[in-house]
Amino acid sequence: MLEKENRLTELVPGLKSDTCRIYWFDTVSSTMDAAFNLEERAVKDRTLVISDVQTMGRGRYSRRWYSTCDDIIFSIILTDYDFRIPYSMLSAYAVYITLIKHKAPVMLKWINDVLWENGKKISGVITEERKTRTVIGIGVNLNSEEIPPPVRNGATSWYIETGERIIKEDFLSSLIIELFSILDRVKKGDIEQVLYEWETEAGLQGNRVRVINDSGEFKGIAEGINKKTGALILNRDGGQLEIYEGSLFNIGGDEY
Ligand code: BTN
Repeated sequence: MLEKENRLTELVPGLKSDTCRIYWFDTVSSTMDAAFNLEERAVKDRTLVISDVQTMGRGRYSRRWYSTCDDIIFSIILTDYDFRIPYSMLSAYAVYITLIKHKAPVMLKWINDVLWENGKKISGVITEERKTRTVIGIGVNLNSEEIPPPVRNGATSWYIETGERIIKEDFLSSLIIELFSILDRVKKGDIEQVLYEWETEAGLQGNRVRVINDSGEFKGIAEGINKKTGALILNRDGGQLEIYEGSLFNIGGDEY
């Protein structure tokens, strides 16, 4: 896979330095496992683990993540991270900006989903932590011609919506440039500005929503997000509640 790794290094200026490594596999069970399985000395902050195929890709809440070799599936390892920062949300924001720059009519869904304008999911992000390693996994349905039955109604791909293909390496390099730029900004202390931009783009303020998470169901008016943590601020009967995790729906049943 050296050829693909080299090509990506050419496309992403930040990868030329010695501060990052890329591993591009043909097939792995999950890029999350591949990232956790790398030996300590093989890993630097922002190491990228990319694969063409995943046999057991996983999503949040123990769901499966389906992809073809023409889609984007990768993980990024963070060794230098701040546990207060919502990296999943920031990664989804990088996907969103990249798609917008490709003129895709997409929208942000709290916490870390990107939806096509018809409400179907085109990208998902997951974060897992083990020992000193935080791994963020990013999936973007780019060139899939069809979505498998378990998620068919709720998901889509760039190709399904536009009838056009995108060169995977080009999209991936744009996305990594965007992601690195956001990580750089956050490292410089710009988190509040980045999350303010997220909130403005997401336009969820004033919506009547419900959130379902492990603690139950919460209904209220979305007031925005906490600009330090990314938590959703819900107004419930005049009182404010901050929610850190969960699936968000518009009241009335439609997914927000
Ligand atoms: C979700 O929306 O539930 C998160 C989906 C995350 C999918 C990506 S694909 C690359 C990485 N490897 C995995 O097994 N999962 C993540």
